[in-house]
Amino acid sequence: MMTNIKRATEQETQKSQRVQYRSDSQRRTNTVLQPRRGTTADGSSTEIIQIICQSINQSCREFQNSGWLVIGTGYRRARPRLLRCDLTDEDAIRGLLQEYKPDVIIHCAAERRPDVVERHTEAAVNLNVHATSTLAKEAAISGAFLLYISTDYVFDGRNPPYGEDDSPNPLNVYGRSKLEGGERHYDTVQVPVCAAVLRVPVLFGEVESVSESAVTSLWLKVQGATESCTLDHCQQRFPTHTRDVAAVCRKLCERARQDPSIRGIFHFSAKEQMTKYEMAVAIAQAFSLPSNHLIPLTEQPAASTLRPINSQLNCSRLELLNLSVEPRPFTSAISDCLWPFTPDKRWRQTVFH
Ligand SMILES: NC(=O)c1ccc[n+]([C@@H]2O[C@H](COP(=O)([O-])OP(=O)(O)OC[C@H]3O[C@@H](n4cnc5c(N)ncnc54)[C@H](OP(=O)(O)O)[C@@H]3O)[C@@H](O)[C@H]2O)c1
Repeated sequence: MMTNIKRATEQETQKSQRVQYRSDSQRRTNTVLQPRRGTTADGSSTEIIQIICQSINQSCREFQNSGWLVIGTGYRRARPRLLRCDLTDEDAIRGLLQEYKPDVIIHCAAERRPDVVERHTEAAVNLNVHATSTLAKEAAISGAFLLYISTDYVFDGRNPPYGEDDSPNPLNVYGRSKLEGGERHYDTVQVPVCAAVLRVPVLFGEVESVSESAVTSLWLKVQGATESCTLDHCQQRFPTHTRDVAAVCRKLCERARQDPSIRGIFHFSAKEQMTKYEMAVAIAQAFSLPSNHLIPLTEQPAASTLRPINSQLNCSRLELLNLSVEPRPFTSAISDCLWPFTPDKRWRQTVFH
């Protein structure tokens, strides 16, 4: 099974180069992806185009390990193993879907940093709203099942926990763009929509650089033990590991392919409620580092982008499906993500084993 998948990946890489050339010759800024149908070892036709980000490795692995033929895509960080596609290029999306004819699409690409979205609204809306709309329309036309990753920031945080059918009321442009792009759009599509939305809270996972996520970047504050630093201690968060999200994505897609009634909005979240300050203290404790330089801040800075105080997600709809994904405890999950950034990487062996 693994050989099959690997061979497919190499073929995709070659195709990627070919399509890239074609795209360049048309003077497009970005490249397109390629399609083709793959077959897994058991003969089933299972193909996915993975449009992800920080969780790409985990998600690809999660699907591949279950026999899916995975076609991962990226943009600026696309590597030889990933196809490069600018999702703001409508032709690129169409070309991608027409060539590969995927059965399932996981759409994760977004500008998800609220402050950046406020500063560069047009570019963010292009990706979060317009590209998502195009992808949703094209997926519906091609008959692919689209799983759209959304956010708890669609809620205002004033009356948690939020059920799947509760009315969204985003406080910032990022939340609005996720709502407009991925969620409301489905009502207006002219063809039958075969899609689900998975809302998740703040994420963390394996990263190349700790600055890739709001959670792993706390490592920089924890390590700077010589200087005191303030950390938010009023916004309640539920940090969730991307590996758990990847497992939910896979199981939800597999169920949805068997059962056409599995559509609409789902929530997934870890259970531990923490502020950023509490996450940082937990990280310090996990690595036996001092935490007395960390100072809890109990008021939101007036100048910052508005964020919900507590947008806890009620996940009962997903729980009814019994997908058996138990969120990992924060301390062990974050330790796994951060140990490569410790000065002495042998730390992991000495502490965990
Ligand atoms: N991170 C969180 O805490 C969090 C919380 C709730 C919901 N979410 C949602 O979860 C999803 C994943 O978030 P994330 O944290 O993994 O985001 P991220 O790390 O910021 O990654 C953004 C992704 O979008 C891709 N991308 C950017 N511009 C693109 C373009 N023009 N064409 C194609 N791809 C493009 C990037 O590809 P390259 O890197 O290759 O350029 C990257 O893979 C998003 O939909 C986000 O709204 C995230």
